Amino acid sequence: MSLIEWRPDDRQLHLTNGRLSLILAVHEDGSLGPVHLGAPLATGRAYGHLVPRGWTGFSNRLAEPIALEVPTPGSGDYRVPALEVVQADGASVLQLRYREHRIRAGKPSLDGLPSTYVEADDEAETVEIDLADEPSGVVVTVAWTIFRDRAVLARSIRIRNDGRAAVRLETAMSLSLDLPDAAWTLVHLAGAWARERHVVERALVPGRQSISSVRGSSSAAHNPFIGLRREWTTEAAGEALGAALAYSGNFLAEVEVEAYGTARLRMGINPETFAWTLEPGAAFQTPEAVVVWTADGLGAMSDAFHSVFRERLARGVWRDRARPILVNNWEGTYFDFDEERLVAIATVARDLGIELFVLDDGWFGRRDDDTTSLGDWFVDRRKLPNGIDGLSRRIAELGLGFGIWIEPEMVSERSELFAAHPDWAFQVPGRPRTEGRQQLVLDLGRPEVVDHLAGVLGDLLASGPISYVKWDMNRWLTEPWSGALPADRQGEALHRHILGVYELYRRLTTRFPDVLFESCASGGDRFDAGMLAFAPQAWTSDDTDAIERLRIQWGSSLAYPQSSMGAHVSAVPNHQTGRVTPLATRAAVAFFGAFGYELDTAALSADDQAAIRDQVAFFKAHRGLFQFGRFVRLRSPFAGDGNETAWMVVAADRRRAIVAVYRVLNRPNPRVDRLPLRGLDETLDYRITAWPPGLDGVSATNEITRRGDDLQANGLLFDVERHVSPEIGDFSARLFVLEAG
Ligand code: DGJ
Repeated sequence: MSLIEWRPDDRQLHLTNGRLSLILAVHEDGSLGPVHLGAPLATGRAYGHLVPRGWTGFSNRLAEPIALEVPTPGSGDYRVPALEVVQADGASVLQLRYREHRIRAGKPSLDGLPSTYVEADDEAETVEIDLADEPSGVVVTVAWTIFRDRAVLARSIRIRNDGRAAVRLETAMSLSLDLPDAAWTLVHLAGAWARERHVVERALVPGRQSISSVRGSSSAAHNPFIGLRREWTTEAAGEALGAALAYSGNFLAEVEVEAYGTARLRMGINPETFAWTLEPGAAFQTPEAVVVWTADGLGAMSDAFHSVFRERLARGVWRDRARPILVNNWEGTYFDFDEERLVAIATVARDLGIELFVLDDGWFGRRDDDTTSLGDWFVDRRKLPNGIDGLSRRIAELGLGFGIWIEPEMVSERSELFAAHPDWAFQVPGRPRTEGRQQLVLDLGRPEVVDHLAGVLGDLLASGPISYVKWDMNRWLTEPWSGALPADRQGEALHRHILGVYELYRRLTTRFPDVLFESCASGGDRFDAGMLAFAPQAWTSDDTDAIERLRIQWGSSLAYPQSSMGAHVSAVPNHQTGRVTPLATRAAVAFFGAFGYELDTAALSADDQAAIRDQVAFFKAHRGLFQFGRFVRLRSPFAGDGNETAWMVVAADRRRAIVAVYRVLNRPNPRVDRLPLRGLDETLDYRITAWPPGLDGVSATNEITRRGDDLQANGLLFDVERHVSPEIGDFSARLFVLEAG
C-alpha cells in the first residue's frame, strides 16, 4: 500500500501509515504548508478546510497564522523563519512557490550527513517537494520520509542556487512545523557535565522558547531533542510529539507561540554560529530531523525513537548484537599505569567473566596528566614497552577483547603534532587561544587534517587485535576561525568541522567494520542521534554514581535506547559525588545499558569479587532483554521528592520482563506501596524471582506466580517493607525477573 497520496486537484500531499498522518497543502499563492500532523486520517479526501482562511475584514491582511512549510522573513510572516537567504542585492525576501514533487519508495541518504535509512525500499516512502523563488533562482527541496511500520517521519531540506549570483544562507532549519494550537507542554533534556539530560518541562507561553548549543558539540547543556505533550499526557496515554536532530554540532530547537495562539516548532543548525555561501549551481543539505507523533503517551513516543534509532540509524555489525561486558581502567588508574598493572586488572576481570578490557586515556606520547600529547597517537613505551600490539596480544591471550581510547579531534599545545602543524588548530591569528583542559581543537573542516587522522588512527587500529574504540572529545570549541576559509566564509567553519568529524568516523568505521565504536564527550556532551549513526553506543555520563545515574538514564531514555547508553559500575566512595552505594545497586542501575565496570579489579575484596562474578553471570543470562527489550518508565526520579525510581524492560514477545525498583533514602514505617506494571501480556502467568536474593519478606510477597492482568492492575507489592525496613537501608535497588511459564 502506498504511504503517500497526491491529490492533484486539491494540490495536497497526504503521508500516512495508519499510525499518523502528515498533510501538506499547496496554498492559493503557491506556498506550501502543513495542515495536519497527528492522528491518522483517511486518504481519498481533501483537507483544505483546515487551512486558516483569515479574517476577511481587510484584504491583504498581514501576519495571518497560515501554516508554512519553509517560512522566510520579510514578506508578512512575522514568526521565526526556517530559511534566510541573503541575495546579491542584500535582500533576504523570498517567495517560495510549489514547482513539482517526486514520490519514491525508500529513503535516500544525505550527502555527508548521518541519517535514518531503510534496508528495503518498501520500508518507507519519501516525497521531495521543490519550492522555487523565481527572481533569485533559489530552489528548496523539502524531503519528508514516512516509515511504514513506525510512528516516525524524517525531514530535511536541500537548498540549491540555480541563480546567476552567489547567495548566503544565514538560517537553514531542518524542520519547521506549524501547529494549529499551543496548548502543549515542552519537554526537553537539560544539564551539565556529570548531570546530563535531566528532564525539564514547561507549559508553552506566548513568545519564543528555545534550547540550543553554541559550544561546538550538541552539548550536555541541552540535548538536540524536543518533545511536546498535552497537559494530560502521561507515560501511557495522550498525545506526544517529539523531534530529534541527527546532528552533533551547534543546534537550535525552538517553539514560538504567536499572537493567534498557534505554535511554530523549528529545529536545525544554530543560525547564531552559521552562514554558508552558495555559489551558482551549488547546494546545501541540512541535517535530518526525526519526528515522532503518537496518541499513546510519552512511553510510546520513546518506543518509536528507540526502535528507529536502534534499528535504522545505528549501523554495522554491532547494531543488533549484545554488547560485551567491559572493564575500563580510567577510574581505576587514571594516568598511573603500566603494562603489568593493566594485565593484572584484565586477569581478574577475565576471572570474573568480563569480556573486554578497555585502555583509557594516557597510553600515548608522554601523557602522564592532561597537559600533553593529544595528537601524538603513538604508544608511550615507558608505560607499555611492548606497544599496543604487545599489550593487546597479551589481553587477547587472556581471552578478552581489547579496546582503546582515542580523542581524534584534539591536539595538546605540548605535542609533536602541534609543533608540526600549529595552523591545524582552531585559532584566530594574532589573538590568544582559549584552552580547555589544556588542549586545542583541530579544524576537521580541513581535508588534510581528516586525511592525517584517518591515516595515523587507521594504523593504530590495524596494529593489534583491537575490537573496541572509545572516541572521546573533551572540550568545547573557541576561536571558530579556519585558516582554510576566506574571511567572508568563516561562518562555515563549525559546520565544516562537524562534516569532517563525520567523514573521519565514516572512514574509520568503514575500514574497521567489526570494531565496536563508543562515542564520548567528557561523558555525555555529544549524546545525539548524529553520533549514534556511527557509534551505536555512547558514554552516557562521567557520573558513575548509581543514584545520579537514575536521573541521567531516565532522561536519556526519552529519546535514546538503553543499548546506546554506556553504563558502568565504579568504586565507592564515588569519584563524582563521594556517595557510598551498595555494589548491588550500582549494578542494578548499570545493567540497563551497555554494561561494564570501571574500577581496579585487582584491588577488589574477595567478597566484592564474588558479588561481581554473580552480577556478570546474572547479566549474561538476561543481556538481550536488558539491552534490547522495550524500556518502560514506571516511576520518575523527577517526580515528587525524587526518592523513588522504577522502570522495566519487556521482551518483544512479552514472555519475559525485568522490573527495577530503586529507592534513594530508606524511610521508617513507609507507606503501603504497589507498583503497577505495563507492557505485559495480560493473559500470561509470570513466575517472579527477585535479584539480589535476600530480603526474604519482600521476596516472599513477590516471588509467586502472578498473571499479567493482576500485575498490571495491582502491581508488585511492597506493603511488607514496612516491617523489613531496617534490612533495606539507603540507596536500595531490587530487580524482579518475570518469566512466563
Ligand atoms: C572523559 C571521559 O568521559 C572519561 O571517561 C575519560 O575517558 C576521560 N575523558 C579521559 O581523559
